[in-house]
Amino acid sequence: MARAAREQWSTRAGFVLAAVGSAVGLGNMWRFSYLTAENGGAAFVLLYVAMTLLVGLPVLLAELVVGRGARQSPIGALARYGGSRWRALGFLFVAAGFLILAYYSVIAGWTVRYALVGLLMGFDGDAGERFGQLATGPRALFWHLLFMVLTAGLVMGGVRRGIERASLVLMPLLFAIVVGLAVYAATLPGAEAGYRYYFQPSFEELLDVRVLRDAAGQAFFSLSLGMGAMLTYASYLSRDTHLPAESAVIAGADFAVAFVAGLVVFPMLFAFGLEGEVGESTVGALFITLPHAFAEMGGAGRVVGIFFFVSLVVGALTSAISLFEVVVSSLMDAADFERAHASLLLGTVVALLGVPAASDLDVLGAMDTLAGNVLLLVGGLGLALFVGWRMDDPVAEAAAGASGIRWFGLWRRLLRYAVPAVLGLVLWFAREDTLGALAALAGAGG
Ligand code: PHE
Repeated sequence: MARAAREQWSTRAGFVLAAVGSAVGLGNMWRFSYLTAENGGAAFVLLYVAMTLLVGLPVLLAELVVGRGARQSPIGALARYGGSRWRALGFLFVAAGFLILAYYSVIAGWTVRYALVGLLMGFDGDAGERFGQLATGPRALFWHLLFMVLTAGLVMGGVRRGIERASLVLMPLLFAIVVGLAVYAATLPGAEAGYRYYFQPSFEELLDVRVLRDAAGQAFFSLSLGMGAMLTYASYLSRDTHLPAESAVIAGADFAVAFVAGLVVFPMLFAFGLEGEVGESTVGALFITLPHAFAEMGGAGRVVGIFFFVSLVVGALTSAISLFEVVVSSLMDAADFERAHASLLLGTVVALLGVPAASDLDVLGAMDTLAGNVLLLVGGLGLALFVGWRMDDPVAEAAAGASGIRWFGLWRRLLRYAVPAVLGLVLWFAREDTLGALAALAGAGG
């Protein structure tokens, strides 16, 4: 039976917005702000920018090159250029997709609930207690399942109708909301301390390898790299796309949202005297402190808070769609599954995988460490080696549709040497964390 022609994005904006939608999500707000708080503020931000430029951008371009060239989901794409042994890397991507989406959906579920609670009842001054009530247990499970139903429903709609349409409307809305919140935060008395924290790096932290490792992991997580999400989206592109330009737009937009989110979070935290709470419960920091701030702000806080959480839900949804698209398109390409059947089956699997994360915050944290600090970096390392050393002529592939660009040789050298060196070191220094997270997961499982 002849296969249907591969779907394509209907417009350039469709691809860019969907890719930006994938990049911009809970990573920019929940993960970026807790890691910034945990790692001393400005130093982390600086290293995160450095890692994005040195490691993130080259790997992003590599994913787009492989995806567009092979026009297949990750497993097939790697096998096509590298032979069947490279399928293993594709399986790692899919495994990372399952793992991340499982807990990502739990956190997204919290945001849905906060948005609704804000709308129906207003925010609670005792935000820590409220977080404790909703973070785990039957309620967390309910919202996690609801979020997975939404995600699977949108992915079932197909590339063009579901994802493209959702992103076209929702991404500009998200950015407008966060900018508005940042302007509001600037009017708060006491906000200066937040800006100082956010902009004045301490040299001690700049030289800390752990901060570097967290920055590298965050660069990958935030740009949706190292598990084939960008690769998969690029597989729906035509050959005349200017990939370097698209990479710059995606990375620029992703950074802009994280940066502006920081301009919301830190001034508010300091203005309301909540800085001490940040970092105490890493996973819950954003969800404990911001609702508290919203509650203290009175009536205006309720409105601001509702907008904030609605924007978080939007960002989480477009990111979750891209995570899910990786596993769904892999099953479609590998086993000739139809989109609807693959979505139903895999949505159920991910929903079940998320149950432990919805029941225990330590498990959720361990899953995030394992995925963000390890699997994505291993995936990015593998991809850099693949494109740098194994692929026949990645430069020609990248140059298609991008005449006038002269630095593809540099790009290839970065993939060959700099990216593997940096990621290798980072993974080495993260090894104890990895073992700790594995032990936590095993402990929860047994
Ligand atoms: N980049 C997304 C975010 O910041 C998360 C994500 C990671 C999405 C990996 C796809 C792949 O929320």
